[in-house]
This record gives sequence, C-alpha cells and structure tokens, in this order.
Amino acid sequence: MKIGKRITALLLAAAIGIVAVGCNKVDGAEKKVKVVRVAHGQNEEHPQHKAMLEFEKYVEEKTNGEIDVQIFPNELLGATSQAVELSQTGAVDLVIAGLGTLEAFNECYTVFNLPYIMDSTEHYHAVMNDEDIMNSVYESTRQSGFVGLTWFDAGVRNIYTTKKAIMEPDDLKGLKIRVQTSPTNVKMLQALGASPTPMSFGEVYTGLQQNVIDGAENNELALINNKHGEVAKHYSYNMHAMLPDILIASTDLLDNKLTEEQAKIVMEAASYANKFEVDLWEDAAAEAKEKAEAMGVQFYYPDIKPFQDKMKNLHAEYTKDENMKAVYDKIREKGDEILAKNASVESEQE
Ligand code: GCU
Repeated sequence: MKIGKRITALLLAAAIGIVAVGCNKVDGAEKKVKVVRVAHGQNEEHPQHKAMLEFEKYVEEKTNGEIDVQIFPNELLGATSQAVELSQTGAVDLVIAGLGTLEAFNECYTVFNLPYIMDSTEHYHAVMNDEDIMNSVYESTRQSGFVGLTWFDAGVRNIYTTKKAIMEPDDLKGLKIRVQTSPTNVKMLQALGASPTPMSFGEVYTGLQQNVIDGAENNELALINNKHGEVAKHYSYNMHAMLPDILIASTDLLDNKLTEEQAKIVMEAASYANKFEVDLWEDAAAEAKEKAEAMGVQFYYPDIKPFQDKMKNLHAEYTKDENMKAVYDKIREKGDEILAKNASVESEQE
C-alpha cells in the first residue's frame, strides 16, 4: 500500500472521526448515527473481509441504521500495529490483529506464537472456542484500551522462499526470512538457523521481489491474496504455527460510544462473523493452494520432527513467566485431552 494512499485514508478517517456521531434520517426521523470504523490488513477477497461484511450487515440491520460500520481493508489505516495503537485512543474502533502484533501488548498472547504449541487443527480450534481459556486472554489488554471479541482462522503457517525448497532446518542457513514484528517469531527463526527479518505484512511482496528477503512464513492465502506466489515458488509444509487472528475492540467503543444494547449487538455480530469466517477458511486455503500451483509454486512436505527439535527449548524459556505458564498449561491440557480422546477412539476401533 502506497504511503500517499495511507495518508489519504488516515485523513479520511480523521475527517470521519470529527463527524463520528452525525445526524441522518433513519425511518424518516432525524437520528444520531454512530460510525464504527474497522481496520484490517487483508484484501477484499479474504475470508476475514467477507466475514466483516457480514458483521457490518448484522450490526446495521439490528440497530436499525443507528450504527454505520465502515471497513478499511489492505492496511489502509496503517500497519496492524499502528491500527491497534489507534484503537487504544478510540480513533479506530475495531481491528483484526495477528498474534505477532498482539504479543507486544500482553504476554498472554505470546504463548500462542510458540512454534508447535498446537498439535492439530482440532486442538487449535478447541482452544480458540474454549471460553475458559480465551476470556482471560481477551481481557488481558483492557488496561491498554482494547479487548478481544473473537477469533478468525488464519490457518497454518509454513516457510516459503524465492530460492529453494526448505526440507530441513539446515536449508535455512543464511536465508533472510521475513517474520511478523514479534520477538517470539524472531527467536523461532533464529533457532532454525535463518536470519529473521521483521517487517510489516504490506511490505513483504516488494521485499521478496527486490531480494531484501529470501522468504517468509505464512498460510497459503498469502501466496495468492498478497501475490507472494508470483515471486516465491517454494512452499514447505513445516507446519510451525497455527495462529488465529483476533478481532479487538476499543474499550472506548464498548464502554462509552455505544449503548449497552448496541454493544451487545456488536458482540453478537462478532460471534456470527467468527463462525462465518471459520466455515470459509478450509476451502479458501485449498483454493489458494490450487491457484498457486497453477502459477508455478511447488509444495513440499518435509519431516517436521527436525524443525520441532530445533525449537523445543523455546517452550521452556517462555514459560518461566507465571502468566504465560498459566495460558500455556491450559493450552497443553486441552491438547493432551484431545490426544487421549483420539487414542481411545482408535483403540476401540481396533
Ligand atoms: C496473516 C495473518 C495476519 C498477519 C499476516 C502477517 O495474513 O492473518 O494477521 O498480520 O499473516 O504475516 O503479517
């Protein structure tokens, strides 16, 4: 996204901000219309954008037009970390933020960035749908001016490069791999022997094209929606992370700007959008993979054990902190429950 465009969008947002509560005719009568601004970094084809369009429809219908939801995709209001900062002051109301970004705001989110903390998609979804685990995580940033409302699937993150297939950690030696601006992600790639290069999502395509970086790590949608597959032709399923994105809301929106009834509608709409997006994800990832194959991207399936072994010390390092350990233990407990359940189903079938 060009800086000029971003500035225009910011000016636009500021201008809207000034008239965030305006007077419109709703059902023939003068009514106050509240503008709710949503920022995210994906394009209009992405399941998260489609889910937010459903969110918009739900909120506008249920509030009988008293709320006008305005969505700014493509990092139009700045890189996600800037958008989260804007939510802290209430200048932006809702943001879809990656876990790499959120770990800068509370250590609870850091735990999710640990490589291989989730055993499977079943485990990952069960954790994200478990209120006992997630409510305290969502609340952990209240003092910072925002809370989590719900999660969106962002699939499995894998490493891809412009240079060669990554079949074992040693293949990463000397390669500059873009990571999210997250200390955990930096350590993760260092543990694998690569040179991690933190960078905002919107800069990755140009980075790959101009050889500023040799690769990145992300789900399959990045190959198509963000065109990374045009330049990076080697995608290796090393499966290091299953990371959700979180829909966060400014506390100013929930506590001051909206009535209690309106805040309830926003929360219902968030949970509706979550189900909508999660339902779309699997097909969207499969379709992106197919399109990427058609543009010449090769997919590889390395043995993941050597990658896991290189990164396992990170778990011990990151659970020295009490808050992190509490979240870590809950996530692992859930994983062990699922492993035991599946093992007993398997043994019954034998
Ligand atoms: C994915 C993820 C985003 C994240 C991005 C990135 O697209 O859904 O939340 O910001 O990757 O790597 O920066």
